[in-house]
Amino acid sequence: MVFEDGTRALTGIDLAVAPGELVTLVGPSGCGKTTILRLAAGLLAPTEGELTVAADATTSFVFQDPTLLEWRTALRNVELVGELRGLPREERRARALAGLDAVGLADATAKHPRQLSGGMRMRVSIARALVSEPELALFDEPFGALDEITRLHLQTLLQDLFAARRFGALFITHSVSEAVYLSDRVLVMGPGTIAAEVPVPWEHPRSPEVRYTAEFAELTGHVSRLLEEAS
Ligand SMILES: Nc1ncnc2c1ncn2[C@@H]1O[C@H](COP(=O)(O)OP(=O)(O)O)[C@@H](O)[C@H]1O
Ligand SMILES: [Mg+2]
Repeated sequence: MVFEDGTRALTGIDLAVAPGELVTLVGPSGCGKTTILRLAAGLLAPTEGELTVAADATTSFVFQDPTLLEWRTALRNVELVGELRGLPREERRARALAGLDAVGLADATAKHPRQLSGGMRMRVSIARALVSEPELALFDEPFGALDEITRLHLQTLLQDLFAARRFGALFITHSVSEAVYLSDRVLVMGPGTIAAEVPVPWEHPRSPEVRYTAEFAELTGHVSRLLEEAS
């Protein structure tokens, strides 16, 4: 991917996400993570090479900023997806309620974004992304702005949602432990390229406790070392 101003953002990327597979990308700022996501979303066209997304795949996004509409309640924010897709009112409401229930917000459906904590706003954003039952969910550092405890809770939530629904996903993070805990494969990026790939062997759903095991520490250590070598 070469941008119009001549910036060569990505070179020699060879990457596939299988249905129901969660792949994470870790790498330093500016190495091209967001560019890969924008390519996968069809927001950018590659200047060289080929990119295929299954023809009828539904794709959805979660960004670091939850991007909620301030004048809409949590429920109406999630319902918006159904509105845009022309679903009948009752169906979109039922889906939005189920989606908010799944992220632990059954009691907060009538609240506006300003009445919610950062973690709760991110839960609404996740509910909104998954309500359309995407084949491919794209996450760009979704938990990067949250405090550590909230972040761990949301990792566990996403782990459980993923185990139950098995959407394909590309997930960008700066956190090596987040990448290892969530994903089936960690792709370690250096400037403009994928430098290494580390498979994560554990079945989903993974207990939060797995993060405190020696095997986990060993794998995160391995990824961190590769990251340092690649940067
Ligand atoms: N629209 C653009 N035009 C020119 N260069 C860009 C554009 N978008 C991103 N870049 C450059 O491409 C590289 C990768 O950016 P990005 O994918 O945002 O990195 P990351 O998400 O890993 O921090 C950076 O050098 C960035 O400055
Ligand atoms: Mg980025």
